[in-house]
Amino acid sequence: MTENKKQMLLGLGFTGAYGANAKAWKSEGVNSNTYPDIKADIRYAQLAEKGKFQFLFVGDFPGAVPDDNSHVPSMTLEPIITSTTILQQTKHIGVASTVHTQWNFPYTVARQFKGIDLMSGGRIAWNAVTGSSPKVAEHLGVNLMDSKSRYENHYEFVEFILK
Ligand SMILES: Cc1cc2nc3c(=O)[nH]c(=O)nc-3n(C[C@H](O)[C@H](O)[C@H](O)COP(=O)(O)O)c2cc1C
Repeated sequence: MTENKKQMLLGLGFTGAYGANAKAWKSEGVNSNTYPDIKADIRYAQLAEKGKFQFLFVGDFPGAVPDDNSHVPSMTLEPIITSTTILQQTKHIGVASTVHTQWNFPYTVARQFKGIDLMSGGRIAWNAVTGSSPKVAEHLGVNLMDSKSRYENHYEFVEFILK
């Protein structure tokens, strides 16, 4: 009989201050002061590393949420800063960091990831997304690209970085 050596790889999503559940911050025992708190992120990352997680996923939504408690604040800290800080405070775990291709410059992104790659011993990955939120475009003071232009731009952007 052949031995089944399949292994599951675990990743932890850093997409919200209190997890994916929008009401989680109301749970008993949750410290609502951990938003936005890089020290809490570092603690979670170190715990995930200890628990043999393979990677963390750092999402990004560069648009403010209403200040009326109708939304749980999430993805508030800039992902390159968050990822770099976490990588300096961990030893083995990988970090997949989100950067939108629609709202950044390829050369800047290439420099950032190359630097973090060297600094972390190859533990950074890029979640390359187009970005499609009119709210974010509004915050950045630019027009949202139409879908076709987004993907043409995305393809060229990623190709440039891979070279
Ligand atoms: C795996 C995955 C992760 C994503 N992460 C983010 C994210 O962190 N932030 C974000 O604004 N959009 C994220 N997106 C959404 C993309 O930016 C984009 O809005 C979505 O893929 C639809 O794009 P389109 O309308 O250009 O087809 C993610 C999409 C995928 C598939």
